[in-house]
Amino acid sequence: MPITLIVNGEERATQAAPMTPLLDVLREEFFLTGAKAVCREGFCGACTVHADGIARMSCLMPVGLAQGCAITTVEAIAADGVLSPLQQALEDHDVVQCGMCFPGMVMSLTKFLEQNAHPSRDEMKTALAGNICRCTGYERIIDAVLALTNAPQAAE
Ligand code: FES
Ligand code: FES
Repeated sequence: MPITLIVNGEERATQAAPMTPLLDVLREEFFLTGAKAVCREGFCGACTVHADGIARMSCLMPVGLAQGCAITTVEAIAADGVLSPLQQALEDHDVVQCGMCFPGMVMSLTKFLEQNAHPSRDEMKTALAGNICRCTGYERIIDAVLALTNAPQAAE
């Protein structure tokens, strides 16, 4: 019996075994390769997606648990090819190095900023704890996000 899920607003089905990592189904069946397979052990955050509005590491989520879930991947963050404000801020500050961590960073930070629109520097450091950047660009990422959230248009 297929497992059905809503991926980026579209109903999708897979015959994958229920314990197959969601990450593998997204990448290998649905060709959504934004979520990266790096550690596959829940340490790096490169595979982060949103599942029913919660940031989850898709390498640790069996696809059987995603039955009926709304899954959002990084491919859906830029609507109609227009970068989200977060993506634009990261781009404007030229923070991307190899880029391997960035899909996960974007997914984690998008969810974080929904919950805390004006984070402090320390809160940003905590928010990034689950996303490892091997190029060690953390300070520039934080600078970019704080520039976005402290911009006049971001003020409440
Ligand atoms: S690939 Fe999932 S946490 Fe690293
Ligand atoms: S930019 Fe290379 S791992 Fe983060």
